[in-house]
Amino acid sequence: REIARVAALVRDAETVGVLTGAGVSTASGIPSFRGEDGIWGSEFDPQDFHRRRFDRDPAGFWRDRLDLHDAMRPDGVEPNAAHRALADLESAGVVDAVVTQNTDGLHQDAGSDRVIELHGNAERVACEDCGRRSDASDARRRAADGDLPPTCECGGVLKPDVVLFGEQLPPKALHDARDLAERSDAFLAVGSSLTVDPAASLPATAARDGSLVVVNLDETRADDRAEVVLRADVTDALPAIAERVHEA
Ligand code: OAD
Repeated sequence: REIARVAALVRDAETVGVLTGAGVSTASGIPSFRGEDGIWGSEFDPQDFHRRRFDRDPAGFWRDRLDLHDAMRPDGVEPNAAHRALADLESAGVVDAVVTQNTDGLHQDAGSDRVIELHGNAERVACEDCGRRSDASDARRRAADGDLPPTCECGGVLKPDVVLFGEQLPPKALHDARDLAERSDAFLAVGSSLTVDPAASLPATAARDGSLVVVNLDETRADDRAEVVLRADVTDALPAIAERVHEA
């Protein structure tokens, strides 16, 4: 079966990299951006979360951001079987690192240590002036109480520590992600529509010298480069792969 093939690829590889997207967190109750029930284009307009909007109207940005947070982060969100399988494969010495486009921190909550956050982390805020990063809950509470936009002790405006449309990715994370994709003998792209560059180009980079596996419910741009495409739910496929890897 396909799962056995993927397990063999992963087992035989010296370096295994993983790229994850919103699809690994849908089973935790966090909606995806595109695909069925995606929030872009229905509930929310991506233009409202553009860097230009933040610069022009930080208070309005924060108001919309609180709504987005409520939609994206229902109370009691927990890692699911897909996050746990990846953490398990890392602690078993099989997966080297997870590159994620997600900003929910659930890979770390599941126990993954080597996580490369390409799009930042929504549970943190960063000061636009002094650069200090801190937990987002206090800033969110103040914003919800009408303190808009929330500011840092230094007086600078706080911004969610995520990559907005119109912003560059954090250089170190991007460098580490590309390096991992180049070094990987097996690379899994899971739960991502692979539409937003530069993250979306990592699977093609990995496929140049390694074996690419795509696990996603819908088609992706990298399917034709993949050695195996699993049109499956990540919460079924990843635990099944992990189980097979351990059996051998
Ligand atoms: P998308 O919402 O574009 O894609 C998620 C993919 O996961 C879709 O193709 C779904 O079919 C698939 N999917 C959903 N649930 C799944 C499941 N249980 N098992 C398998 N597949 C499933 O999300 P991303 O590709 O992560 O950018 O989006 C990339 C970036 O676009 C995000 O990081 C965000 C957004 O604008 C920033 O925040 C900068």
